Amino acid sequence: MDLDAWRAILDFQVEAGVDLALDETPHDRFALAAAQARKQAEEPKPRTAGPREPVTPARPLPREAAGAPEDVASLARERAAAAETLEELEAILAEFDGCTLKLSAKNLAFSDGNPAGRVMLVGEAPGAEEDRIGKPFRGRSGQLLDRMLEAIGLDRNSVYVANVVPWRPPGNRTPTPQEIAICRPFIERQIELAAPEFLVCLGGPATSNLLGIKDGILKVRGRWFGYSMRDGCEIRALPTLHPAYLLRQPLQKRLGWRDFRLLRRALDGEV
Ligand code: URA
Repeated sequence: MDLDAWRAILDFQVEAGVDLALDETPHDRFALAAAQARKQAEEPKPRTAGPREPVTPARPLPREAAGAPEDVASLARERAAAAETLEELEAILAEFDGCTLKLSAKNLAFSDGNPAGRVMLVGEAPGAEEDRIGKPFRGRSGQLLDRMLEAIGLDRNSVYVANVVPWRPPGNRTPTPQEIAICRPFIERQIELAAPEFLVCLGGPATSNLLGIKDGILKVRGRWFGYSMRDGCEIRALPTLHPAYLLRQPLQKRLGWRDFRLLRRALDGEV
């Protein structure tokens, strides 16, 4: 194939939203590394140094990510608990190598907005634009979120924004349960340290992971739940539809609008 044909293929991929070269099939890097170690241990050592076969080493996982997921999650809990301020938490998270999403992400998208605001909104995970900028909700769904906030008299100076998972999953795939379990202690500590009056869970994943609610988002949206922090304090939590879903299903915006008006009434002390 000539250069133009390759360029056309790449253009097609960019248009289709491919922005990260990973691979066509998943690889179990743990198994690969173990097999290589076994092979090396079994091979007789050459007496004289002769030409060696080139070996493509498996990309080593950072030491913190190489443990069993439960061990990494408990390390994450320990690290998150050590943070006394949001700045410390962000610095600890930036240093934390236990979540492999960090390897493919460009930036940590820790937070945006005002941590002293009365409302904290939490989504699932950053997308391409958030990854590029290093802040949550900056792409199209973030712009819709801003318009919804504006409609009830709020903006990023008056609310605090974060995600359950602070690194972009490659190709915007859904974060795995292990990735969520590893990141959860950090978002829980982030909520504790921000201590908002109201927690808005944007979409089903944020709702199920933070509130432990397994019912679908269309069933539970627009109702108040309690979010319990470790110190026993409870925050009023409101699940609502994710702005990305509202962009795909514009007719459902009326439900999102209803939920945001409910939030406004709660801020005004009416409900
Ligand atoms: N979707 C999310 O859940 N979070 C973002 O930051 C962007 C899109």
